[in-house]
Amino acid sequence: MCAACHQPLEEQHPGESFDAGLSLEGVTCASCHVRDGFVLTARAADAPAAPHPLAHSPALADDTVCAACHQLTWSGADRPLYDTWSTWQASAYAEAGVSCTACHGSHGPALDPAQAVSVLLDVERLEVRRGGPPLRAKITLQNTGSGHAFPAGSPFRAVQVRLALDHEDGVTSASESLTLLGRELATEAPWLTQTDSRLGIGETRVLDWEGALPLDSPSGNWVFHVTLSEVVSGSADAAPFVDQRLPLRVD
Ligand code: HEC
Ligand code: HEC
Ligand code: HEC
Ligand code: HEC
Repeated sequence: MCAACHQPLEEQHPGESFDAGLSLEGVTCASCHVRDGFVLTARAADAPAAPHPLAHSPALADDTVCAACHQLTWSGADRPLYDTWSTWQASAYAEAGVSCTACHGSHGPALDPAQAVSVLLDVERLEVRRGGPPLRAKITLQNTGSGHAFPAGSPFRAVQVRLALDHEDGVTSASESLTLLGRELATEAPWLTQTDSRLGIGETRVLDWEGALPLDSPSGNWVFHVTLSEVVSGSADAAPFVDQRLPLRVD
């Protein structure tokens, strides 16, 4: 089942045509570009200098080739495990002709997740009195750059949003999790979706925060600090890909 997407070619499996090297390559050129002895192209198949037979592939030209692997469900599931294709297809991006490859390129590297999300900090005031009334803030997240839900792809990926108040001494810091954008699945088949807090295309999420500095905290310059970092299941938080700060003056 896994091999259908991760090693899609017949030559990648034990049998007459087995090729051990090709097998290790996973999703390789031929996965998308070779069928029945023809090299598939998105262009007209009329390049006389090509040293191999060519065939025009409408699926390469309009990106339907991506759907074969970036959409996955099974019987009994309530929602697809991978829904990158279907969310894009139902979106205004698809309608406007902004295809997968328009953003990703046909062979591009993974995009920077910072490109997917806009973060706006709205802090009520930049001056705080120790032991005084709480400081209120709104942190607004919007999916402004991704052609599907954010974070995309497998349910093992999530994005941690944290808020910290850091003192200039570099030692004193109060940090808390604001939210986790991602999915939680049941641990048994058919892996029903328990929660889904990803940001849909264009979706805005406003997080309200309120906090106070106790009387015994140090005065001076503090920083109101919001970060977003990727969490892949089983791994520790990675370095933040969004890191925004506002200076606070504390009396
Ligand atoms: C995941 C699918 C996929 C894989 C894997 C892939 N390609 Fe492509 N490739 C595409 C798509 C889609 C296009 C067409 C993009 C466009 O022009 O809109 C393309 C375009 C091309 C083109 C330009 C000619 C054309 O058909 O438009 C060449 C040359 C090419 N690929 C070579 C390669 C080589 C060499 C590899 C392996 C190193 C590779 N590709 C791997 C999907 C793939
Ligand atoms: C044959 C199955 C298959 C097809 C077809 C396919 N992909 Fe993928 N794609 C994968 C797999 C599997 C991965 C996970 C990483 C890997 O194995 O390279 C992946 C990873 C990716 C990533 C993440 C890249 C990274 O480095 O982490 C992007 C972006 C992507 N694919 C876009 C596309 C687009 C756009 C198309 C259509 C042009 C496409 N894929 C077609 C199977 C496929
Ligand atoms: C409007 C631009 C845009 C379009 C259209 C788009 N993407 Fe993306 N995609 C992004 C951005 C930005 C990210 C980075 C955010 C993230 O990692 O979740 C991303 C992330 C991804 C990832 C996760 C990469 C990883 O590191 O695991 C995959 C897979 C992917 N896209 C596949 C697709 C496919 C397939 C399509 C078409 C159905 C598509 N994308 C259409 C912008 C786009
Ligand atoms: C329908 C196609 C498909 C099938 C079937 C499939 N995968 Fe994947 N897999 C993908 C794609 C596409 C990605 C890239 C994740 C993304 O979208 O960011 C991926 C990513 C992964 C990753 C990297 C996880 C991550 O979040 O980066 C692992 C590990 C993996 N697959 C294992 C498996 C195993 C094990 C199976 C069989 C139980 C399997 N896959 C079946 C398409 C598939």
